[in-house]
Amino acid sequence: DIKACIFDLDGVIVDTAVYHYKAWKRLANELGFDFTEEQNEQLKGVSRVRSLQLILGWGGVTKTEAEQTELATRKNDWYVDMINQMTPAEILPGALDFLEACRAAGLKTALGSASKNSMTILNKVGIAHLFDTIVDGNHVSAPKPDPEVFLKGAEALGVSPTECVVFEDAIAGVQAAKNGGMKAVGIGSPETLSQADLVVSGLDKMTIEKLKEL
Ligand code: BG6
Ligand code: MG
Repeated sequence: DIKACIFDLDGVIVDTAVYHYKAWKRLANELGFDFTEEQNEQLKGVSRVRSLQLILGWGGVTKTEAEQTELATRKNDWYVDMINQMTPAEILPGALDFLEACRAAGLKTALGSASKNSMTILNKVGIAHLFDTIVDGNHVSAPKPDPEVFLKGAEALGVSPTECVVFEDAIAGVQAAKNGGMKAVGIGSPETLSQADLVVSGLDKMTIEKLKEL
C-alpha cells in the first residue's frame, strides 16, 4: 500500500527549472558558447557543481576548481535573485490541490530535492507547512540518480521505500526513485521519462485514484 508521496521541487511543484536554465544559459553565454534545451534536460535534478561540469564540457572549456567555485557562485547569485521574486502564483497548476489531497487522504508528504535553495523557494511560495519532512541538497552527499535523498525522506517519515511514490520531472530523479525501490510518477513527456511507472504532464493531471492504481 502507498503510504507516502515524495515530491521533487524544481519542475514539479514550482517552475524554477526555467530559472535554473536561464541562469546557466547566461553563464555559458558569458563564457562564449550556448547549449540546447535538449542538453538542459540532462541538468535537471543534477547538483550545482555537476551541472557546471557538464556545461563546461559542452563548451569545451576547462576551469580550475577555484574558477569552478566562482562560476557556480555567480550562477547561484543570479538564480537566487530570481527566486527571491517568487510568489504563490508560481506554484505549478494542480500542485497545491494534489498536496492537500494527499494529506486529506492520510498520506505522508516529503520534499526530496537536490537544491540547496529549497527552503527559500518553499517560504516564498508559502507551502513549507504542507510537507511532513524536507530533505534537500543540504542533507545529502550522493546526488540523484543515487536514491539517498528519497531514502532519507522515507526514513524520516517512518515508511518503507516500497510504500513511497516519487514525483519527478528529471530523468536522474526517476532513476533515483527506481534505484531506491520506489514507484515513480514522471512529470513531463513519456518519451523523456520512459523509466517512470506513470507519466503525467503535471500534477493537475494526478489524482489519489491514479496513485492507488500504481
Ligand atoms: C535540482 C534542479 O532540483 O536542484 C537542478 O533540478 C539544480 O537544476 C539542483 O542544479 C541544485 O540546485 P541549487 O538550487 O542547489 O543550485
Ligand atoms: Mg526537478
